[in-house]
Amino acid sequence: MGDKSPLPASVDETLALLSGGNYVGERSLATVLFLALKLGRPLFLEGEAGVGKTEIAKVLAETLGRRLVRLQCYEGLDVAAAVYEWNYPRQMVEIRVAEAAGAATASDRASLTNDIFDERFLIERPLLQALRPDDRGAPVLLIDELDRTDEPFEAFLLEVLSDYQITIPELGSIAAAAPPIVIVTSNRTREIHDALKRRCLYHWIDYPTAERELEILTVKAPAAPAKLSQEIVSFVQALRKEDLFKLPGIAETLDWAEALTQLDKVALDPQAIDDTLGVLLKYQDDIAKIQGSEAARLLSDVKSELTGVAIA
Ligand SMILES: Nc1ncnc2c1ncn2[C@@H]1O[C@H](COP(=O)(O)OP(=O)(O)OP(=O)(O)O)[C@@H](O)[C@H]1O
Ligand SMILES: [Mg+2]
Repeated sequence: MGDKSPLPASVDETLALLSGGNYVGERSLATVLFLALKLGRPLFLEGEAGVGKTEIAKVLAETLGRRLVRLQCYEGLDVAAAVYEWNYPRQMVEIRVAEAAGAATASDRASLTNDIFDERFLIERPLLQALRPDDRGAPVLLIDELDRTDEPFEAFLLEVLSDYQITIPELGSIAAAAPPIVIVTSNRTREIHDALKRRCLYHWIDYPTAERELEILTVKAPAAPAKLSQEIVSFVQALRKEDLFKLPGIAETLDWAEALTQLDKVALDPQAIDDTLGVLLKYQDDIAKIQGSEAARLLSDVKSELTGVAIA
């Protein structure tokens, strides 16, 4: 359990906080994050797959010493999975026990109804958990991949994010003592409704520049030889300019560095690329397009760019 740290007091402190959690972030991201924390507004992060959206919430929870509550969204996500559910089996047991004890009168039955809709029989799901007080400070609530849910759920979420309060018909309203720090992510497989976006501060996370990606490799894959890391970054950056169905994210770059390091590579060569392309690209059409001559061409571009010797 981490110690509770105060929220960052400036953009520089926010940058320092991120790097303290091994997150290499741009100033623009640190600025919007600082503001979200300062103003107590949810942060809505959009971007391609594997560019470090989810990681921000994890790093924030870790560096601020807060509990991380994660709601993974999917199609068909409903209140029972996201907010709360009554524990029917335990309620049934309670009823059976009461019956056995002979709850006969009308008032007995009324008090039994009261008893079984007690917090003891409530199963709390992430959104409700995130409203619960914590001595470490309000938790970080990660609502991950919101674009996978449907619009009714989004509308419900909007209500929760508006007043950090949830109403349970049998119990009444449960309000957050302190609003959680909310990070919402989307891969933009569909547009999120304006009403929800309006509640949030917005930031688009792009693929990193070569400098930043190299920095990420240095921090996250320190075992990779320096020359190899540089070639990996240049190759991946070149690959992202190709017309592919699915471009590699930072996650893939890190995996590739790990894979090549495991294979004891100190530099890229055409064979090693062809043999490990499945770490970077996950669609057969993309692999078929790059494997072989195209990979060799990209590699020779990369090598000549890195040595600064243009081959005429
Ligand atoms: N700026 C960064 N600094 C350090 N590590 C990073 C950075 N960006 C991404 N990573 C690393 O890349 C991996 C993928 O990041 P993450 O899971 O957050 O991506 P994502 O955007 O949520 O992807 P997806 O859309 O697939 O869920 C993680 O292992 C994370 O540590
Ligand atoms: Mg993610």
